[in-house]
Amino acid sequence: MSSLLPVTGPDIQPVELDVSLTYTCLPGDKKGVVLASKIKRKKGKKNKQKKVSTPSLPAKKKKKRSKKKAARSMIDNLEVATSSESVLENPQHLDETYQQLKKRVLEKVSSLAEITQVNHQISLEEKIKQILKTDCDTFYLVDLSTIILKYKNWVQHLPRIKPHYAMKCNPDPRIVGTVTACGAGLDVASMPEMQRGLDAGVAPDSMIFANPCKMPDHIRFAKQHGVKKMTFDNANELRKIHEIYPEAHLVLRILADDSHSTMRFGSKFGANVNNGEAEELLKVAYGLNLQVIGVSFHVGSGCQSGEAFRNSLTLARKVFDIAQSHSHPMSFLDIGGGFLGSDTETVIFADIADSITKCIDDMFPGVTVIGEPGRYFASECVVLVTTVIARRERVHQEEGQHAETYVDYYISDGVYGSFNNMFFDYYKPNPHPMKNGEGATNWSSPIGGSSPPAQHHSTLFGPTCDSIDVVCKDVDLPELEIGDHVYFFNMGAYTSAAASSFNGFVPPKSYFIIS
Ligand SMILES: Cc1ncc(COP(=O)(O)O)c(C=O)c1O
Repeated sequence: MSSLLPVTGPDIQPVELDVSLTYTCLPGDKKGVVLASKIKRKKGKKNKQKKVSTPSLPAKKKKKRSKKKAARSMIDNLEVATSSESVLENPQHLDETYQQLKKRVLEKVSSLAEITQVNHQISLEEKIKQILKTDCDTFYLVDLSTIILKYKNWVQHLPRIKPHYAMKCNPDPRIVGTVTACGAGLDVASMPEMQRGLDAGVAPDSMIFANPCKMPDHIRFAKQHGVKKMTFDNANELRKIHEIYPEAHLVLRILADDSHSTMRFGSKFGANVNNGEAEELLKVAYGLNLQVIGVSFHVGSGCQSGEAFRNSLTLARKVFDIAQSHSHPMSFLDIGGGFLGSDTETVIFADIADSITKCIDDMFPGVTVIGEPGRYFASECVVLVTTVIARRERVHQEEGQHAETYVDYYISDGVYGSFNNMFFDYYKPNPHPMKNGEGATNWSSPIGGSSPPAQHHSTLFGPTCDSIDVVCKDVDLPELEIGDHVYFFNMGAYTSAAASSFNGFVPPKSYFIIS
């Protein structure tokens, strides 16, 4: 039995949404909407610090086991992809713990969405086509189950660390509702984010105001609503907090090892531990009679290595020792965000998390530890679906060469909308074309051995009048017509959160599903 979460809202019509985890006919480069980290790892490059957390089976046995799983899935009438790499190892993950979490999620989001129960299975592209039939040509398909499963995965590998979802990443109330219903707290960066957290029923004690440079009004708001924990990394901030909210519980943000991350924050935030800056700040705080309860850091967004966390934890330990030497023992540690949205061949969440857990057990016994994951929860649960709204062809011929046709497509979302993540978040779009209409060829996962369609050099432009609005340049795509579609995976983090309505194009609607 599945539950549907049609979205209600001022500009969103309720729509019946089906729920199943049969998103198995996915393109080869995508492991599934749900919990990529549970998918069999690809052979090839291995992470140096890679450890297998469950007892390892010999390779041959593993192969047999996954074949058995596929067979079992077929008996259960679940679709199974032709490529075993893209088969989800569910529905075992929808266990008792999952069901309990799901119940809490449904209770919480029931006030934000009309819930309908359905009971059938459907592939991702069929689901997309169902929604397209409602005359919606651009939308986010949000799988809340993915968030629940990722929460379970977090708890399994980081049992001592309570996640505080960084809502800047995607503040949608249904996403915030899901992650907090599971048990997460919130990392908030401003007064409006605090308000959203309070609206979601999150206790002030489960929030951290993790912006080292805060607006005075926002500190007042925190005081008014009892959001006590807040970060700082400079003496002026300490004086500001002292004036407005001297009872606050302060957390010193230190300069972390962010050398392994796509987006580094060190140039903007963090007190240096090694040159004495952190100790000086502690002295200022003690001089003002402020309570510094602990340390936070952020290894940067899109962290590629567990080493960054290990090095940063060592720095944090140094600060704990300094505080102890000043007779102000600390009891709180915040390891920030930085975890990838999905595993890659070389960066595996479970491995990094297991190594963090070991370090924390060794270095911080008895300390309360939290994290601030954003992308980890929000990225993978969203598929963005767009429509081709216009096209043109250009013929290129170099001297002595055959003429080549280039096709320009104009799709219904671009860099001023969801694809702002290409600029702000280094997102690299990987388009999945889909023909419009019933029974159209499913190019991305050809079933039945049909030969692949001819490919053309193609460029995908966004819908605005600006020439910078380019989503993909010179990619090979099969012939598309106006009204066909292109969809993109991993579009939940830092997409809608920063999308504009430049040229009047409003950000897409969202449709929610849960299994
Ligand atoms: C203070 C803080 N915490 C957490 C995050 C979330 O980071 P990520 O999405 O990489 O997990 C950010 C991102 O900017 C941040 O600034």
